[in-house]
Amino acid sequence: MSVFKFPENFKWGSATSAHQVEGDNHNDWSEWEVSKLRVESLKLKGLNPDNFISGKACDSYNRYEEDFDIVKKLNQNIHRFSIEWSRIEPEEGKFNQNEIQHYINVVNALKERGIEPMITLWHFTNPIWFAEKGGWLNPDSPELFRRFIKVVVSALKDQVGLWITFNEATTVYSSFAYLKGFWPPQHKNIFEWRMANRNIVRAHTEAYKEIKKIYNNSPSSGFNKEVQPWISKKVEPRDPDVTSHNVMVGIVESNVFVPDTKNIFTTWLRRKYKQLRNFYFLDQATPYYDFIGLNYYHMDRRTGLGQKSEVVPKQDINEDMGWELCPPGIYNCLLDLKKYKKPIFITENGISDRTDQKRKKFIKDHLYWSWKAVQDGVDVLGYLYWSLLDNFEWHHGFGPRFGLVEVDYKTFERHIRPSAYEYAKICQTNSLEL
Ligand code: FCB
Repeated sequence: MSVFKFPENFKWGSATSAHQVEGDNHNDWSEWEVSKLRVESLKLKGLNPDNFISGKACDSYNRYEEDFDIVKKLNQNIHRFSIEWSRIEPEEGKFNQNEIQHYINVVNALKERGIEPMITLWHFTNPIWFAEKGGWLNPDSPELFRRFIKVVVSALKDQVGLWITFNEATTVYSSFAYLKGFWPPQHKNIFEWRMANRNIVRAHTEAYKEIKKIYNNSPSSGFNKEVQPWISKKVEPRDPDVTSHNVMVGIVESNVFVPDTKNIFTTWLRRKYKQLRNFYFLDQATPYYDFIGLNYYHMDRRTGLGQKSEVVPKQDINEDMGWELCPPGIYNCLLDLKKYKKPIFITENGISDRTDQKRKKFIKDHLYWSWKAVQDGVDVLGYLYWSLLDNFEWHHGFGPRFGLVEVDYKTFERHIRPSAYEYAKICQTNSLEL
């Protein structure tokens, strides 16, 4: 047996997002889930629309303490979750103090258990009023977003040092919502897709500057520097106005592994595709981010631009999602990100596996390749499994089961899966045994 040690202070955790776990959200997604168009199209496919309505989800809005007890029990020391904009600002310009307090309580619950919060400010859902104003096509959207995040960050700054502005905004969201028409508002328009991408990049940059300003004015906020010297050293001020070392602001994108082919031309095409898909946001937002969040799930053997790759042998398929898994691909994605010279968190990596037969090996294989990337000079700060809980998997509904913890959607009972205990051993020892 070999033991693979991770760097000192490496963070171990898991992730969720508000709409997928909280329950009772009222936003553009919850409206779409019950819309006639959506319900009819599911019925046409012979599917039961009830399984595609987020409803109470995991009821984590009320059960977060129970969830965090599990996080602690599983030896995790970081937890990623998202703030639901539609709760904080249900009507334009009107901020709900009770909901702000709710998230303060959530953060406190993590801190009391010795778990570092990592907060995503936007994870696919929009308030209704924002969507009605054109969502991310609205030229004012960056300013509207900035106003929202200012309220949230100001309220939570004393306890939080790790922020993510956008989750998979260009690699997944904009193409699903504005190009492929899978997600609300179900448009298929290349110009809108470009416009949404541009507004989102602007929104990120404005938000980044706003967050830095807030922390500049509050040097004692954010990380407890005695506990987190590893992070404060890593934040490089890139902007003359930005000197704060007590906070890190990052972007999360979902990168795919795009293997070459045996043909020079299609290999060239595929690399171009990869460049456009995986790196658009990072390239556009440079230098306004302190870390990169990598979500890695699968490879793209076939791309729209190039012939199917034949160089990688056939891999396991994650049937629920139709994804071809490829653990070495995470190594490739991490090495690709090295050129940005920023620290990286693996902010999501996971498998939908109801019977838990494959999850343990999935985690170990991906961790082995992540460890290898660290040996080859990639600055990886932590790994967060997706997801802590089974949850509402967007247009796939409640079918997929990504959780370390199984959720009974009728009783909301949580049941820790065996693989979660295996992962807990890795978290505890900061090392992987193979
Ligand atoms: C990612 C999303 C996350 C979850 C996983 C399976 O694309 O960020 O919310 O749906 O996929």
